Amino acid sequence: MERTYIEDACKKAGETVLVKGFIDNLRDSKYMAFIVIKDITGKIQITVEKEKQPELLDTIAQLTGDSVISVKGVVNANDYVKLGGVEIIPEEITAESIADALPIIRKTIPATKKHKEVERSSIDQRIDYRWIDLRTDENQLMFKVQTAMVAALREFLLERKFIEIHTPKLIGAASESGADVFAVDYFDRQAYLAQSPQFYKQMAMAAGFERIFESGPVFRAEKSYTNRHATEFTGFDLEFSYIDSVKDVMKMEEELLTYMLKKVSEQYGEEIKELFGPEVIVPTTPFPVVDLKELYDELEKNYGFTVPEEEKNDLTTEAEQLSYKWVQEKYGHEFLFVTGFGVEKRPFYHMRDEKGVPQGYDLIWRGVEITTGAQREHRYEILKAQAEEKGLKDDVEFYLEFFKYGCPPHGGFGLGVDRMTMLLLNVGIKDAMFIFRGPNRLTP
Ligand code: 4AD
Ligand code: MG
Repeated sequence: MERTYIEDACKKAGETVLVKGFIDNLRDSKYMAFIVIKDITGKIQITVEKEKQPELLDTIAQLTGDSVISVKGVVNANDYVKLGGVEIIPEEITAESIADALPIIRKTIPATKKHKEVERSSIDQRIDYRWIDLRTDENQLMFKVQTAMVAALREFLLERKFIEIHTPKLIGAASESGADVFAVDYFDRQAYLAQSPQFYKQMAMAAGFERIFESGPVFRAEKSYTNRHATEFTGFDLEFSYIDSVKDVMKMEEELLTYMLKKVSEQYGEEIKELFGPEVIVPTTPFPVVDLKELYDELEKNYGFTVPEEEKNDLTTEAEQLSYKWVQEKYGHEFLFVTGFGVEKRPFYHMRDEKGVPQGYDLIWRGVEITTGAQREHRYEILKAQAEEKGLKDDVEFYLEFFKYGCPPHGGFGLGVDRMTMLLLNVGIKDAMFIFRGPNRLTP
């Protein structure tokens, strides 16, 4: 017999079905056994009247929470069943895999008259057994949401003639700034793990692709222990040609994110609210934009927040967080574009205006940077001078070649997929990643 997904089985009252999944809950009493079985689509209760079905008792006695079972039986509509008013009266139960007692507590078990509260295991303990932790409704929803998120981004871009590319992650020279790269042995020489697809995105512009995107791994050798930094994460990067200014890049991004959030809200808004709490808010366009200096003035004026003058060429973490309060109060918005960063704080490839101001931005969502974007310098001589000024020469030589034989004006940005997931659901980055990678974490 063919397996039926549980969400479909729930609609088949009166029919015999075969369902398969993990045991989500098990209550075995003298006369009755209630087994809740869960697959990726839902849960259903298996109800056993023991006297009527002695042949099932040996199997039931073996079962433990999280064991994998197959159940063949008749779907029965029953208003007394809390879980969707439907149950399965089994004919056969097969134990496919019996689970040992679980090594982690996935959710706090509330106190009862007899027992004290059992506290949830820490995120680090749960990551040790991530596959068990990932079985929860919340975690499975998280990755369905992430799938919908990335699918929406892709859909939006494909409709606008973007080409999806896959660039190498093993590279011969440190990219971007030369800092924060992992070196790896590459036969008899040294290679590096790409800290961004930046150079290759731009190579695609020089190749005349006009519009490209890539979703892939990004490596950063940074010893950051925060709730938003990982040493490996997923970047969603795009680049497109024939722009007039960085404003075109910002416009593309705000439209892209609005489209994505609308899709996610339609598909999962209610479930996200129910399991995680936050409302999925579809933003209005255009997003608010503020110059970095003006932002510091506003934060000081409104909240008495100050930073030393020499730090005002970059957005500090505290200012980033506080900017959320400000943008909500001033614009009723969750997003904020910040422009006007100091030239010392931005990569050499950002185009600069007549005053030397980099034509780039950071996009802050709910007080956390999710993107850095810019118009790029596509004029060979200027780009070369900017690279030299930053002390980069040999490492970027191959990259500079891309601009020697014709290259359209272009710009783009990189979005952190894990950061978006984390902010959408209001969790930390360790929770939001399938498996977190940080300075102290290389397994599982
Ligand atoms: O701001 P970043 O470093 O920008 C670049 O890589 C540029 N090449 C992008 C461009 O097209 N100009 O990284 C892009 C985004 C960040 O805004 C953030 O969302 C995410 O990647 N990110 C991280 N996510 C998790 N852990 C980290 N350590 C991250 N570093 C950056
Ligand atoms: Mg950045």
